[in-house]
Amino acid sequence: MGLGYIGLPTAALIASRKIKVHGVDVNQHVVDTINKGKIHIVEPDLDGLVHHGVQQGFLVAAPEPKKADVFLIAVPTPFKGDHEPDTTYVEKATSMVVPFLREGNLFILESTSPVGTTEKLAAIIFKERPTLKGKISIAYCPERVLPGSVIHELQQNDRVIGGIDTRSTEAAIAFYSRFVKGALHKTNARTAEMCKLTENAYRDVNIAFANELSIICDKAGIKHPRVKILKPGPGVGGHCIAVDPWFIVSDFKEDAKIIKQARLTNNYKRDWVIEKIKAAAAAFKKKNKRGAVIACMGLAYKPNIDDLRESPALEIVHELQRLKFKILPVEPNVSKHGKLTIADAESAVAEADIIVFLVAHRSFEKISIQKDKVVLDFCGVGK
Ligand SMILES: NC(=O)c1ccc[n+]([C@@H]2O[C@H](COP(=O)([O-])OP(=O)(O)OC[C@H]3O[C@@H](n4cnc5c(N)ncnc54)[C@H](O)[C@@H]3O)[C@@H](O)[C@H]2O)c1
Repeated sequence: MGLGYIGLPTAALIASRKIKVHGVDVNQHVVDTINKGKIHIVEPDLDGLVHHGVQQGFLVAAPEPKKADVFLIAVPTPFKGDHEPDTTYVEKATSMVVPFLREGNLFILESTSPVGTTEKLAAIIFKERPTLKGKISIAYCPERVLPGSVIHELQQNDRVIGGIDTRSTEAAIAFYSRFVKGALHKTNARTAEMCKLTENAYRDVNIAFANELSIICDKAGIKHPRVKILKPGPGVGGHCIAVDPWFIVSDFKEDAKIIKQARLTNNYKRDWVIEKIKAAAAAFKKKNKRGAVIACMGLAYKPNIDDLRESPALEIVHELQRLKFKILPVEPNVSKHGKLTIADAESAVAEADIIVFLVAHRSFEKISIQKDKVVLDFCGVGK
């Protein structure tokens, strides 16, 4: 259920093991694209795997589920309102499969979810189908892949797998052992849910430290602190680290103090970057008696991918656009964008007065920049 960044590579990998996969997505465009053997996302090695799976008849996409042995949920879990987790997608996907469940089935949730979600989904299932109690297995197994090397990581990463009971854990371990080479760690559903949130909150807190220090060092006129920490950037983005820590904060408001502050600090870094760019543009205007053209290098949430979700770089560019700056947005991994005209990197750098590096894409390292240009590097390109 769900054929996006996680669901599609997972489906294609399972299909490559000659296991029949009926991939479901509510987006008809996604279904049609996959059934043509093509893909709708950028991910190395995925196109070949999907093409092969469809051609061999092991992977079929459809808008509706059908009877199966294993049901795997990989639909979005965004937040809503004041950073409250929105579990309506996983609930909807669960309701969609409930009529097709049979004795002996295995139901797995992979979507990043607040602690207790798997038990909630079990309650939804058993409310509709009370006779399935004790007769199906229900487990949580968070996905931890790195976009850009998903196919490799899906097979090699260790997985943490937790059922709502021991039988469920064992059934899920047996399933994943068919295509995962990494170690499979047994636990219960709540612990597995917390593992994923903990991993991302840990990283968020450490990036917040780097980002806070980068602001302090800028004020102190220090370029390079002599400690080994994570690299600062224009904030934190992506569908995981910018979102998941809120799932802890939302459920443990009194206790999750550092985790909440890390989120606020990382969001503040984006605003600080905007202020820096505005100051550089004002200085340019004062000196040259005209508004600066600003090249914005990178829109993705991290280097060498096309994923723009929760991207601080994109938010910065949108804010500069709203403030009516003359901007040239550059994103080598995206050819079209609904609200922005994407510029080519070389010509944007040649045309711009101020060059702002927002994402350390590898291809930016080689770009030569004329000496008279103002360069603001917020991500350490080439370092
Ligand atoms: N992208 C990542 O790198 C990553 C890494 C680890 C975990 N996750 C988690 O995995 C989950 C899925 O994320 P993603 O990046 O694959 O999302 P995505 O937006 O790329 O894909 C989700 C897909 O689910 C479909 N969908 C929505 N509701 C549906 C339903 N009821 N039935 C069938 N399909 C439905 C959507 O149309 C979409 O194609 C999220 O919980 C996310 O936090 C993502």
